[in-house]
Amino acid sequence: PTVEPDALRTPIVAVLGHVDHGKTTLLDTVRGSAVSEGEAGAITQHIGATAVPLGTVSDMAGDLVDPTDFDLPGLLFIDTPGHHSFTTLRSRGGALADIAVVVVDVNDGFQPQTIEALEILERTGTPFVVAANKADTTPGWNPRDGSPIQASYESQSEAARSRLDENLYEIIGDLSDEGFSADLYWRVQNFAKNVGVVPMSAITSEGVPDLLAVLMGLSQRYMKEQMAVDTTGPGAGTVLEVKDERGFGATVDTVLYDGSVRAGDEIVVGGTDGPIVTEVRALLQPRPNAEIRVEKRFDKVEEVRAAAGIKVAAPDLDDAMAGAPIRVVRDRDCESVIEEVESELAEIQVSTEEEGVVVKADTLGSLEAMANALREAEVPILRAEVGDIAPRDIAVASTANKEKHRVVLGFNVDVLSNAEPELDESEVRLFDDDVIYQLVDEYEAYVDELER
Ligand code: GTP
Ligand code: MG
Repeated sequence: PTVEPDALRTPIVAVLGHVDHGKTTLLDTVRGSAVSEGEAGAITQHIGATAVPLGTVSDMAGDLVDPTDFDLPGLLFIDTPGHHSFTTLRSRGGALADIAVVVVDVNDGFQPQTIEALEILERTGTPFVVAANKADTTPGWNPRDGSPIQASYESQSEAARSRLDENLYEIIGDLSDEGFSADLYWRVQNFAKNVGVVPMSAITSEGVPDLLAVLMGLSQRYMKEQMAVDTTGPGAGTVLEVKDERGFGATVDTVLYDGSVRAGDEIVVGGTDGPIVTEVRALLQPRPNAEIRVEKRFDKVEEVRAAAGIKVAAPDLDDAMAGAPIRVVRDRDCESVIEEVESELAEIQVSTEEEGVVVKADTLGSLEAMANALREAEVPILRAEVGDIAPRDIAVASTANKEKHRVVLGFNVDVLSNAEPELDESEVRLFDDDVIYQLVDEYEAYVDELER
């Protein structure tokens, strides 16, 4: 059965990968802006969202995407910082993203965050493609800006081609080591079984048409059923970030993955002290092709439908948590929506014990991922919370009986300035890292050392 185009939900595409491998530059190329250049130290600090309409996709992809073949409205890209865990991107039942792009620098190959990304995609069963980026840095490469990759590849010298081939086969081999059968995308028949690798350059745009075509094809072929949902019902989303906005106070940058949200809607948002019930004062929408993270000119809108990146302004959002659920109540019973949010929060709630370590993380999703990793390593947890390291955390950690438990494990968080003297004076050891398994490894090495 054919579905009206405007009744289809926009697929959510997460862009993941190691620091500096080119995620933001790739999105810049797609949206024709230059967010990456404007970033402090060119490092993405927060998760962002960009709605790219089908028209933009087909303009970029040229002959490879015929817009009349598609009835999806476009793609909603989520940019993630490489130094950060994108585990925030969780939604009810698993991954927030419908599909993902794992960006790998062809010269640098697999790195810790590449592996972390693949592990999470595997666990959540999210289909993905690999963008083998920076092909233009291959020695002797002769750029053909904006060209599909095969034409560009054919026009290269023998030496450049074999150099690129070597790097690509290394990536395919590394994927296989991680348990994924992969091949160059034009050899892949069944994208549900095999991972397609798309050689490309975010700087010269070579191969970007191919990547967009593969993403559109994947969404259209495998996700159409999932996209044919009612986007007018009460909305469900995930908080990406809590941000103060002049004139509005605390607002939440949200990815709406289901239904709709309207100005005036009653909403329930997960907060540090339980669900927050409030009313939408304003919906601030970034313009098409604009990145919510850096957008300054939002359009005030009355309604948005999934999937979308939207800034929600409402009273009492100060304690909202990154990674927490947000739900529209509308014609439902508010109590039942509160229960829904509570049970989703409880799902993420970490079980704690009488004796163990203190864990702090930047988002609910990363806290959950930390707790899973620690459980696998059989490390007990005394206290686990979202937020920066505060004096109270040090105080709690210092009460542990065993030396190996007098520690705070911080993932992507800062030590609050008033907690620093306390940390210096106490016996509490701080471990911080921005890769979860490295953090756990460091802690385990420390315990081994103690017990030797
Ligand atoms: P984080 O957000 O910090 O994780 O990094 P990122 O993956 O978003 O990387 P970003 O897009 O900021 O790119 C990092 C650097 O690589 C920048 O200097 C880019 O100009 C450069 N770069 C990205 N893609 C390409 C490419 O295809 N070719 C070349 N030559 N340079 C690239
Ligand atoms: Mg970036």
